Parts: sequence; C-alpha cells; structure tokens
Amino acid sequence: MPEITAIILAAGEGKRMLSTLPKVLCPLAGKPLIDYCLSLASRIGARPITVVTADKKENPVEEHLKNFLKIKIVRQKRPAGTGHAALAAVQSLNGFHGTVLILYGDDPLLKPATLKNFLAKFQETGATLGFITTRMKNPSGYGRVVRDSSGEVLRIVEEKEATGEEKNIHEINTGIYAVRADWLLTALKNLKKHPVTGEYYLTDIVDQAVRDNQKLLGYMGEDEEEFLGINSKKQLAQAQAVLQERLIDEWMEKGVVFLDPRHVWLDADVKIGAESVIHPNVFLRGKTSVGKNCVIECGAVLTDMTVGDGVHIKPYCVLEGSVLEDEAAVGPFARLRPGSRVGKKGRVGNFVEMKKASLGPGAKANHLSYLGDAEIGAETNIGCGTITCNYDGVKKHLTKIGKKVFVGSDVQFVAPVRIGDGATIGAGSTITEDVPANALAIARSRQVNKPGWAKKKK
Ligand code: UD1
Ligand code: CA
Repeated sequence: MPEITAIILAAGEGKRMLSTLPKVLCPLAGKPLIDYCLSLASRIGARPITVVTADKKENPVEEHLKNFLKIKIVRQKRPAGTGHAALAAVQSLNGFHGTVLILYGDDPLLKPATLKNFLAKFQETGATLGFITTRMKNPSGYGRVVRDSSGEVLRIVEEKEATGEEKNIHEINTGIYAVRADWLLTALKNLKKHPVTGEYYLTDIVDQAVRDNQKLLGYMGEDEEEFLGINSKKQLAQAQAVLQERLIDEWMEKGVVFLDPRHVWLDADVKIGAESVIHPNVFLRGKTSVGKNCVIECGAVLTDMTVGDGVHIKPYCVLEGSVLEDEAAVGPFARLRPGSRVGKKGRVGNFVEMKKASLGPGAKANHLSYLGDAEIGAETNIGCGTITCNYDGVKKHLTKIGKKVFVGSDVQFVAPVRIGDGATIGAGSTITEDVPANALAIARSRQVNKPGWAKKKK
C-alpha cells in the first residue's frame, strides 16, 4: 500500500447527543467512540494519524488521546463544519504527497476488510477522490449521493439543503474518504460557506472533483450497519446492538457457549476461552479476560477481571479488577473489589466481600465475610462471619494469615496482625495480637451459666 495518512474529525460539538461528555468520548461497548476509528487507521498502517479537536482549554478529547502513541493533534479554531476541520488538518501535513484517509470520529462500525477493499479499489482506479456510499433503509439525517442519469456521482447534498426529491434518495454518504493530498488542499481552500448553516462542508469536495474533471470513485458499501453515524443517544444504542451481535458471533466462532446470546453484554476488549459457558444476563466489561472451560452464571458482572481456566462463577457476583486462578469458585453473591486474588482451587462463597485481599491456593472463605487488606495462605479456612478490621479511622492495615490456618466462625482480626502457619483461632475471637504458628488463640470472655435464673425472674 502506498503512503497513507489518516485524519479523524473529532472537533464537533455533538449537540444532538445532549451529553456532558464530548460525543467522540461516549462509550460504545466500553470504549470511547473515537477509539474505533483510531484502531482502524492504525491497522491499515496510516502514518501519521491526525485528530482534529476543538479549541478548548479543558479538552477531555486531547486528554484521552494521550493514551495513544504517535497521534498528532490539530485544533480547529471554531466549529465551522467538517470542511473547515479537514482543512486545519491538511494544512499541517507539510508537503505530504500520498493518500489522505478522512474518517469521522463518530462512525465506529466500519470493518477493516471493507476499508481495505475500498482503499485497494481507490489505488487501482487511480481516482483523485474516493468515498464510500451505502443504501440505507432510512437515510434521514445523512448526506445523500446525487447521481446523473448514467449513474455517475455528481455531488453530495446534506439533508438540510436537500429538495423533497433528493430526500427520497436512499444512497448516502458514509463519511469515509480517500483523497490525493495535493488536490485535497486546494479543494478544501476553495470550499464555500453554506448560507443556511454558516458551515464549510467537506462533502462539497465531491462536487469540486466533478467540476475539476478529477477521477471520482463512489464505492458502494453493502452492509448499511457498518456505516451507522452516531449523532444521538438512539443511534448510540443501535450501534451498541450491532456491536454486541458482532462480538458474540466472534466468540461463538471461537468456541464459547452462550446459553442465550441475546442477553449477554460484552465490551470490545473482552477475551473468552473456548468451551466456556456464559449464562444469561452476564456483563463482561473492560479488559476482562476469561480462560477456557469456565462457567459464568446468571447476573454476574465482571469488570477488568483476569479469570483462569475451569473457574466457576456462580450467580450474581460483582467482581472487579481481581484475579481468579484456575479452578477457583466464587459466589453466589460474592463481591471482589480491586486488587484481590483467589488462588488455584480457592473458594469464595456467598456474601463474602474481598478488597485488596488474597486467598492462597485451596483456601476457603465460604460465608458472610469481609476480607480487606489481607493475605491468606494456602489451604486456610476462614470461618463464617470473619471480618478483618482493616481501618482504624485514619489508615488501612494488613492482616496476614499463614497456611493451613483454621479460623472459626465470627472472628475479628484487628489489623495489623499476623497469624502463623497451622494456627487455630477459636470461634467468636477478637484477635488483636499476633498468633504464633500452630498455636490455638481464643479471645472471648468465658461463658457463665446461672442455674434457675430465668425462672426466678418470672
Ligand atoms: C456528516 C456528513 C454527511 C454524512 C454523515 C455520515 C458533512 C457536512 N456531512 O454529517 O454527509 O452522511 O456525516 O455519518 O460532512 N466535526 C468537526 N468539526 C466541525 C463539525 C464536525 O470536527 O466543525 C466532526 C464531528 O466531531 C464528527 C464529524 O466531524 O466526528 C462529523 O460531523 P457531524 O456533525 O456528526 O456530521 P453529520 O451531520 O453526521
Ligand atoms: Ca455524524
């Protein structure tokens, strides 16, 4: 592929979105909209990738772009339309002579294969300007592609300026363009402001190419779903539905089982191993990765989790930023907060909350516990109702429990405290001092029985 650079327009105000976030940062399957075209542009090898941003002091889009290497930012001085935004970027290209790919930051569903085919066709035909069109069942809101009687493209007309007849055209402009850099700069400089909106439309370069007798490629994309532009919350939800179906199809092809594929929500960066079975109403979010042969039951919500092979997550677990090693089992109703780890074959049962806590291999905390800022060794048993008192009102402290410790029910560990390997802690104890290895610790008052006391009272 000859030299190619990409420009991504992301300076629009996104007024129709009615969102406090800039439109291109609105999340789609867990990632900001703009990430989708950034990854497309980098996949086809575009260098550099220039993003046009709004001229604002506090600029969340620019903040977000700091997460990416090798992105050039160009500010658009005022929101004067897509043509005006593109000109700002092209002016900064300094004598680049190859192909310029222009994408809109709010069109996230384009597939790499479609883009590659389009660019191949663009090179093959030697066109000066190519753009992708598609037929939409409901074209409203999009620019319409006007062709002459022999089918040649004449121009793009925006909905706001379209005549009644033009509004009936179902072929729309998808907003994906490939243009020879040298011609593009002149064309953008020649754009005229539209009286209705006061904006410069990038789409008008099509009309210019026709008048200039430049070779033009109107490339028809087949699947309208790929070209959904996100201007509103409704379109965002439509895109979300399309992307969910794609992601679930992809994972099914890789051997994942979904009991009900319509009722599972996956973020774009999630990974799932073959033969894992995902029950309905499961959310796998962020950078969650699930190993092979796992079972994730109904109502589990996993965010940024690392799950090994053969793990069983029972219904209604809320798990975040933690690690479940191979063959661990958690839930039902377990909560893991960030920084926790359950070792190989470890067990976490119902109503157990862990925060920055680790259970060693084979260790168990089966019922009703809070384990925060704790390290628990292999094969230790944490009895029902055990609590680590990790917070003294000012600071958090560590509870360190060794291997093969037996902790009876209803024990409180007042941190910082250490329990040696093989120790036993009597039920109902409030442990405030370290316990040596293999010792028995009991820290509760002795029981007193007063014979006949209740009868006398009556
Ligand atoms: C645009 C196209 C339309 C096409 C549709 C496809 C124009 C004039 N119209 O319409 O033909 O069918 O996309 O989805 O191009 N932007 C800037 N600066 C601006 C204005 C916009 O950077 O001054 C950016 C926006 O952030 C957005 C992109 O350009 O990412 C497209 O702008 P938008 O206002 O959404 O255009 P549409 O009305 O959807
Ligand atoms: Ca748009």
